[in-house]
Formats: sequence, structure tokens, C-alpha cells
Amino acid sequence: MKLKSLVRDIPDFPQPGIVFRDITTLLNNPQGLRHTIDTLAEQCQKQDLVPDYIVGMESRGFIFGTPLAYKLNVGFVPVRKPGKLPGAVHAVEYELEYGTDTLEIHQDALETGAKVLIVDDLIATGGTAKATADLLAKIGSQLLGFAFVIELTGLAGRKVLPDVPIISLMEY
Ligand code: PRP
Ligand code: ADE
Repeated sequence: MKLKSLVRDIPDFPQPGIVFRDITTLLNNPQGLRHTIDTLAEQCQKQDLVPDYIVGMESRGFIFGTPLAYKLNVGFVPVRKPGKLPGAVHAVEYELEYGTDTLEIHQDALETGAKVLIVDDLIATGGTAKATADLLAKIGSQLLGFAFVIELTGLAGRKVLPDVPIISLMEY
């Protein structure tokens, strides 16, 4: 199945010069959604990257991270934008392709040494994924790797990430 044909390009969103890779057209295709989750799970198994927990970032990381966790029979931990998590949090500020933001995780979300796979829809500059890895380092998790549906290779986001395996299903 050609997953790439289900991703829609929207030029100049959210600002001029950015080509937005829109996954809503993949999500509303039943075969596309199923194939995406099944392929992520297969890659995790093949590369020995089945963790104790999937950590997914708000909001599009939730869309792929939760069904992947269900499929792998592991827990899911949300990393959220500021002020959303009710318990005590660790916070990290980071840069986006188009701005800056903060991410937070519950301090007690997972036990020290737990094996974690970070999952998001897309890596651009790598800022979001790096910030999430930094949050997990504060907790003392063991980062097994990253999984993305889309990698924007021109922005070289993987260069800012720690040296662990990276799964990506399609490249632009
Ligand atoms: C998007 C995307 C990734 C991030 C990638 O999220 O879902 O999380 O940008 O960019 P980076 O590699 O340059 O950090 P966004 O912050 O737009 O939030 P959303 O998922 O709520 O739309
Ligand atoms: N997040 C950061 N850059 C993006 C892009 N070009 N398309 C979709 N989501 C993004």
C-alpha cells in the first residue's frame, strides 16, 4: 500500500514557505490508518524496539502512539503542552519549525529505568523529539528509540537526537 499517496501537501501553512504534510487524509482512510499502525508495530518487532511504554507528544503523537501501544500490548504516556497535566510535571522549552513551545510530562509517569519508545507523526527540525528525550532523561528512562510516520529529511532533525535507532515510514 502506498501510504505516501494518502498524505496531502498544503503549501504555505501555517505560514508562508512551509509545506504542511497533512495526515488527516491518511487517518480517514481505514486501510491507510491500519497499515500505518501495523507497519510501525512490525518495524518495532523487527528492530527489537518493543518498549515498556510508548511516549507520544500532543497532539499528533497521541493519534499514532496510542494504537501502537495497544497493538504492542504496552502502556502509553502522554507528553503535553503546558498547563494540561494535573500532577507534578517536568518541563522543557523547545523550538519548532515555526515558533517555540514547552512540553511537560508527569514526574511519576513511568518508573526509573523503564524502556521507552518515543512516537510522533512527523520529525521536522527534531526539536519536539529532542525535548521529549530530554524530559525522559530527567526521569531516568531508558530510551530505546524513536518512531515517526513522516521524516522531513531536508531539515536533518535526526542529527539533534540521541544516538538510538529511528524508525520512519516515509521521507520527504
Ligand atoms: C508538529 C508535529 C511534531 C512537530 C515536529 O507538532 O506533530 O510534533 O511539529 O516538528 P519539529 O521536529 O520541528 O519539532 P505541533 O507542535 O505543530 O503540534 P500538534 O501535533 O498539536 O499539531
Ligand atoms: N510539523 C512541523 N513541520 C511540519 C510540516 N512541514 N508539516 C506537518 N507538520 C509539521
